[in-house]
Amino acid sequence: MSDNHVTTPGRIRPRRLRATQALRDLVAETHVRAEQLIMPHFVLPTQQGDEPIPSMPGLARLGVDNLVRTVESDLSLGIRSVLLFGTPEEGRKDASGSCASDPNGTVSRAIRALKGRFGRDLIVITDVCLCAYTDHGHCGIVEGGRVDNDRSLGLLAAMATAHADAGADIVAPSDMMDGRVAAIRDALDARGQSDVAILSYAVKYASAYYGPFRDAADSAPQHGDRRGYQMDPRNANEAIREARLDESEGADMLMVKPALAYLDVIRRVRETSTLPLAAYNVSGEYSAVKAAAERGWLDEAGIVRENLQAMVRAGADLVITYHAREALQRRWL
Ligand code: PBG
Ligand code: ZN
Repeated sequence: MSDNHVTTPGRIRPRRLRATQALRDLVAETHVRAEQLIMPHFVLPTQQGDEPIPSMPGLARLGVDNLVRTVESDLSLGIRSVLLFGTPEEGRKDASGSCASDPNGTVSRAIRALKGRFGRDLIVITDVCLCAYTDHGHCGIVEGGRVDNDRSLGLLAAMATAHADAGADIVAPSDMMDGRVAAIRDALDARGQSDVAILSYAVKYASAYYGPFRDAADSAPQHGDRRGYQMDPRNANEAIREARLDESEGADMLMVKPALAYLDVIRRVRETSTLPLAAYNVSGEYSAVKAAAERGWLDEAGIVRENLQAMVRAGADLVITYHAREALQRRWL
């Protein structure tokens, strides 16, 4: 009677299937495909322009012409989806972020240029949020030191319909106001834009990982922080409530953001909803990898591969990642 017979090596050896690359590939459970990747872009309010982003090595804010050129070369790598963030013209920010819904604003012009050039070969997703357009940097209208949820909804819906009118395929609200998916869906439908889909940033945490993005988009709050509307990192059950709510309001796809510190949340949302699920591999996650790789402290190819695989293994169908271009160009996947 030995109680160690189960662990005696001999009959069952998991290492058999790890012996060669071909065997490992044969039994691999997770595959990251180019079609799953979404490349974010920061768009300047000009035709020209290419401004490197210091805290995000390898990335730049692009004028519309350079954006079109870059997207064309990314398409040849297999990147068929982009997520656009706009920056308004100098001096155009105000308390209500009114230029966010300007039909000739940065994002609308970029959408028209991209869809005019690439048509149905390219999926154009736009971030819908006011923080890059308000002078106070919050994601909605501020009233008495607090973001007024319901007064912000109309502005978000107007921004979404402006993007839809310009030709966006998918709008992605990232503000975390309650009820914004319903408000945007109703506004799109009322405008005859019922084919435009909503990718909801359903589960978005108040995270320190957004730091580099706020430099790039010039969208840092001028007072306070976003904890009054973005989620508390301590909560996971709340993520399920948010995901269910947005699904019931008409979201076509859900997102968890950030990704790597929230793989448990990705898994739980995956098991709660059958909607396509996106993970946002955010700016701070990207910059941390870049900084360590520049110092020679980490092997960038290996880290990026492992991180992207982790998000997909956790349950993400789509991954929004600043690594998309390099990962494909340099064959890291
Ligand atoms: C706008 C928005 C943010 C990000 C996406 N949309 C910043 C924020 O909420 O402060 C972060 C993306 C990233 O860090 O890569 N609300
Ligand atoms: Zn915002």
